[in-house]
Amino acid sequence: MKNQIIAGIDLGSSKIACMIAKTSAPPQDSANNPAPEIIGAGISEPKGFSNGLVVNLELAAQSIKNATSLAETQAGVKLSELYIAITGAHIKGESSKVSLSISPDKEITPADVSQLVQQASTVDLPSHRTIIHSFPQEFILDDLHGIRDPIGMNANRLQASIYIVTATSTAIQNIQKAINRAGFKAREFLPQPIAASYSVLDSNDQELGCMLIDIGGETTDVAAFYNGGIYDTLSLGLGGADITNDISIGLSISRYHAEQLKIKHGAARSDLAFSLSSPQDSANKHSSPIKIQSLGKDIEQTIDKKSLISIIAPRVEEIFGLLHRKLKYPTDLELLPAGIVLTGGAAKMPGISGLAERIFGIPAKIGIPNTVQSLNQYKDPSFATPIGLIIYGSIDKSASNGNKRNGRMGKSSKAPLLSSFSNRVKSWLLE
Ligand SMILES: Nc1ncnc2c1ncn2[C@@H]1O[C@H](COP(=O)(O)OP(=O)(O)OP(=O)(O)O)[C@@H](O)[C@H]1O
Ligand SMILES: [Mg+2]
Repeated sequence: MKNQIIAGIDLGSSKIACMIAKTSAPPQDSANNPAPEIIGAGISEPKGFSNGLVVNLELAAQSIKNATSLAETQAGVKLSELYIAITGAHIKGESSKVSLSISPDKEITPADVSQLVQQASTVDLPSHRTIIHSFPQEFILDDLHGIRDPIGMNANRLQASIYIVTATSTAIQNIQKAINRAGFKAREFLPQPIAASYSVLDSNDQELGCMLIDIGGETTDVAAFYNGGIYDTLSLGLGGADITNDISIGLSISRYHAEQLKIKHGAARSDLAFSLSSPQDSANKHSSPIKIQSLGKDIEQTIDKKSLISIIAPRVEEIFGLLHRKLKYPTDLELLPAGIVLTGGAAKMPGISGLAERIFGIPAKIGIPNTVQSLNQYKDPSFATPIGLIIYGSIDKSASNGNKRNGRMGKSSKAPLLSSFSNRVKSWLLE
């Protein structure tokens, strides 16, 4: 495989982020692909989009063009196609079961699996919905559940559980139009939290079971994994922008000042106002008064950190509480030992993992995309989704090029199981 250029664009609610990466050929004797290297990035304001939908085609195309042009200039390349991360309430996922009879004296072949996976994509769908992705969750050989790779095995009946992600057809068509109008081809669409999973989860997280919670600007997106496969996804129309809004209203300050205040002094747990222990929290250690500029008044006022947290914490609790109630769990939450991985810009708020642990009752950690070669400024939860697209893209292109042995991202300790599995399935489909 020669060097490849991979480009992804995250159509986020607070920013459009385009990333371009270069992948180099793996050494002949290596079973690993080297980690992609980010060679260009561009960020633009998400004008022309609302709740993940295109509401003004011209503006949307221009926003895409703004981000891609910056990234292209930095990378010194001209792009033709993009992997695209999308969000919105119109995206839905559900499991579909498909099955195939196999003669018992015959080993299961890639062609059998391919036939099965393709069967799943012919499920009856309302005409206004389009399948954007299918992820195998498990294979079942007769009564034996939990098989991840059935090739070469024997059975009378091969069944598969496939997680199918669908979206409103017109929503996809309009995003596609905006991408085309900006001068690009849409290579594949991925729901944002699934894209982010490629950059912040490792195979252990997915195998043991975990929930990825991506708290962005106007949405919080979740992808939950168990036994190496996706079992649920969810998009909630609440995020960091709502926290900013609450601060703006609660303290009668402008949204601009509320955003600054949140980023500089915000925290998600009230006990953090007085006792902070981690180094990253040390800036907040002293509960000294914080100056704020009230709307319509010339005078500066002060508030203490505890008051600020008393505005932020209930909103974060509401978001976690809603997710907790809405998510389907395949098993007791305690049986998701890898717990919760928080990512997205709002996950940078001190104390947020502690709050998640209190509400869900399982361990929580922050997911930082640090498995690609990139500048430190991108090793930041805000970039989990565009970097995840790059990792997905490098696996996808590698599979399309017939490189079937991999799926593990060399150099990095993270080896996305879902990715390696999807990669293998893709290879089978391409055979
Ligand atoms: N240090 C910080 N503390 C608290 N919140 C932060 C911090 N940095 C960024 N945020 C918040 O993160 C949010 C943006 O996150 P992100 O960049 O992941 O969003 P997005 O991907 O554009 O949106 P979405 O995922 O909803 O489509 C904003 O609300 C911003 O205020
Ligand atoms: Mg996002």
